[in-house]
Order: sequence, then structure tokens, then C-alpha cells
Amino acid sequence: MFHDPDFTPFQARARASYRAVLHNYLENWPPAAYREGYCVIRGLWPVTPDAVFLSDPELIEEVLVSRAEMFTHGRIFSRIMSADFNESSLIFAEGVDWRWQRRALSPAFRHENLLKLVPVFAQSAKALTKEWRRSHSNDTIDAAQAMTRTTFDVIERAVLGSDGYLEREEFAAALARGLENVGWRLIYAYFHLPRFFPYPGSTAVDAAMRHLGKEASRALARRRDLQGERHDILELLLSARDPETGRVMTDKELAANLYTFIVAGHETAAIALTWTLWLLAKDQASQDRVREEVSNFAGARDIGAEEVEQLTFTRQVIQEAMRLFPPAPGIARQARENTTIGPHQVSKSASITIATWCLHRHEKLWTEPTAFDPDRFGSDKAKERHRCAYLPFGAGPRICIGMNFAMLEMTTIVATLLREFRLRSVPGHRPKIGSHLFLRPLGGMPLSIEPL
Ligand code: HEM
Repeated sequence: MFHDPDFTPFQARARASYRAVLHNYLENWPPAAYREGYCVIRGLWPVTPDAVFLSDPELIEEVLVSRAEMFTHGRIFSRIMSADFNESSLIFAEGVDWRWQRRALSPAFRHENLLKLVPVFAQSAKALTKEWRRSHSNDTIDAAQAMTRTTFDVIERAVLGSDGYLEREEFAAALARGLENVGWRLIYAYFHLPRFFPYPGSTAVDAAMRHLGKEASRALARRRDLQGERHDILELLLSARDPETGRVMTDKELAANLYTFIVAGHETAAIALTWTLWLLAKDQASQDRVREEVSNFAGARDIGAEEVEQLTFTRQVIQEAMRLFPPAPGIARQARENTTIGPHQVSKSASITIATWCLHRHEKLWTEPTAFDPDRFGSDKAKERHRCAYLPFGAGPRICIGMNFAMLEMTTIVATLLREFRLRSVPGHRPKIGSHLFLRPLGGMPLSIEPL
């Protein structure tokens, strides 16, 4: 068990403030959500809705799993996340529109298909180690930037089959802009202000979103021009057909899903990897255990499908990193009708947040919740926990379709990097959380790297 005050990057505010929404919305989540399971911040009816925060595994199970049909992503989620061009994608679709897409896309994410991608993950990680080796020893690198580039490389190859379809630098820059300034979008959505209302930086965000939509359509068109059979996610999208109705995806749906897979598939994994590397840089003993495990099971060989399955401690490290720093710190829902959750009455106008950040640091669910301890995820311990006590990927029918993809990818990348480098944290640097949709550390994540 490794303790460090930096593992608690901010204190919850006793009273929510609009200023906090703009610099780190998580500060506003009620302090009681770390001790109790159901908290409400009352809205100013009818102007703003009540905000309900859930951090009780039983209540969460009701919303995400057993009564999932009663809840949608909700108005605020759609307002923050969606743009004209991606509304019809898997992540936003509801009802029959969602079901057939999910059914059609699931085969691509079967374990046996994903194992074929392990060499792709290893190749992208090795390209990074080569780049790091070319730099001088004991250099400081930005792990956030390096992980974003590496996971982008992975997702581009896995979704599109090879790299070079997207203008990478421009796409990444537009994406970063599109995911920023979430605070303003949250406030505007909360007050029901229309989309076209300007806020600081809104012109740049709108331009970035338009660019992303155009790039997704362009990549699709370029791919259509190519001949020959391929085995990537886009091929699956192109050939997806509803077995009952024969329905295929329209060009709009295809571009929307292409964009969704690229964004959902690399940003979250990059963030999880960034925190993982930083935690390992702090906890040298766990870092040595990972290295020893990799050496035992892979020796000097590249990480392949067989090796990655053996790296159980490496996987536990990533799981524990996503407990302390879940890339998606909350999951949004809204009830279709006035309803109850457990004993609590919930209005259909209320915004419901599954408060993953608080759930993962809950005083009654975890011993020493702010300490880093990968052994919490040993197979014996995991069985003792409620299935909704740990939710980096959500739960129920809308659980992350890319969960196994991400776990294999991240395990391969961590193993490949640690085999060649010792990581150390930079003295005096304390990561901060910003107003970003996901848990991206503000201003990057400097780490020092020492070649082995
Ligand atoms: C560490 C990496 C990842 C994290 C933490 C993560 C987290 C999540 C979470 C929490 C959800 C559920 C949202 C909800 O219930 O409202 C979700 C859904 C989704 N994720 Fe991931 N994700 C990751 C990686 C990926 C990857 C690699 C892909 C694709 C290649 C992906 C594609 C999706 C899609 C398409 C959905 C929507 C599923 C649906 O609504 O049916 N994610 N993700």
C-alpha cells in the first residue's frame, strides 16, 4: 500500500460554486458522496434541475443494470458531448437504434478478435521506446502527450486498418479543443441556454468540432476508394447489417461511429495510461514488480497475445490506477419518467450522476481509499466486492464496448515501456485536474525517464 498526499489532488467543496465548475467540476461533487450513497444538490426550479449524485453500488446497479431501460444518458450529457455530426452514433443512440448498432459492432470486440490486435499495440509502444531512446538519458518527457500519441496511433490502425488516413496533428489539436471548456458547456446546459449562445472559447470549440466531423467523413470516403478485404473496425461498420431488418448504416451513421471510436477509443486510454505511469513513477516497488513479471513471462520477446494474458500484476496496476483516477470520472443519466431509485423519489428533470470518482474513493467501500494498492485487484479480493463498486467502464447494457480492447492495449503498452525504462516523478510537480471532459491532468504530466 503506497501513500502520497498527491493522490488527493483537491478537496471537495462544502458548497458548490459556478467558479469551480469552470476550473474543476469534480470539486463541486458533495463531500457526503464519499461517505454516503445518495446526495442531492437542489436546483432552482424551474430554471435549473436537481443534481443527484449516486455512490452506492446498490443504487447504481438499479440505474445502470436492473432498471437500465428507465434511464437515458440525459439532456446534459447529450448537450455536452454531442455535435450535429455524431448524434446518430452508438454512444448517443437510444432504443432500437442503439440495439442494432451494438449487436452489429459487438463481434469486433470479442476477446479472440482483440488478441489479434496485440501486435499492433506492441508496435505502437515500441515506436515510442525508440523515440525515447533517441533522447538523452534522464530526460523529462510529457507522459500525457506521449500516451495520447501512442493510443491515437493504436486506434487509427485498429479502426482504419493503417495509419495515414487522418491529418494526425490537426485532428489531435481539434480534439483537445473540442473536449476543453466543459465547465461553460455544463453551466449552459444546466440553465437550458441554447447551443448557439457564445462563451469564452466557443468559436474555437465549434470550429474544432466541425473540423472533426469533416475529417471523419473524409477518412470514410478515402477508405471507400480502396479495394480489397480488410479486418478492422471500419470494415465491420461498413458491412454491419441488422439480421432482423437488413438495415445497414447510412453515411452519416458511419462517419458518426468512426469519430466515436477514434475519440472514445484513444482519449480515455491515454488518460488511464498517463495516471498509471505517474503512479508507478511514485511507487517504485510496484514498478519493479511489473518489470519482474514482464521479464518472467516475456523475456526479451515482444509482448504478444500469449504474453499479455499472463501479466496479471500489470493489469492490476492499471485497474488500481483507474480506481484512483478514473478517466471517465462520472456517468450521466436522466429518468424517462418521475421514478424512485431505492427509497428516493427522483424527478424526470433531475440530472443523475453516477459519481465514479467518489465511489472509487468511498470511505465505506475501500480500506485506505486514497492509497495506491494494486493488490486490491487480486482475484480473491475482487470477488468480495459488489459488482458496481468499481466502474471505470460503466456497467449494464451500455458498458463500454471497448473495455477489453483498452485493457489489452494498456497492459501491452505499460509492459513494453517499463521493460526498457525506469520512470521517476519530477520533484515539486503536483498534477492538477482541469475543466476537461475526461480526467486529463492539466498542463500535462512530466516524468523523468531513465533507459535500462
Ligand atoms: C480506459 C479506456 C476506456 C474507458 C475508461 C472507457 C469508459 C467508458 C464508459 C464509462 C462508458 C459508459 C458510458 C455510459 O454508460 O454512459 C463507455 C462507453 C463506450 N466506450 Fe469506452 N472507455 C474506454 C475505452 C474505449 C475504447 C478503446 C473504445 C473503442 C475502441 C470505447 C468505445 C466506447 C463506446 C462506443 C461506448 C458506448 C457504448 C454504448 O453506449 O453502447 N471505449 N466507455
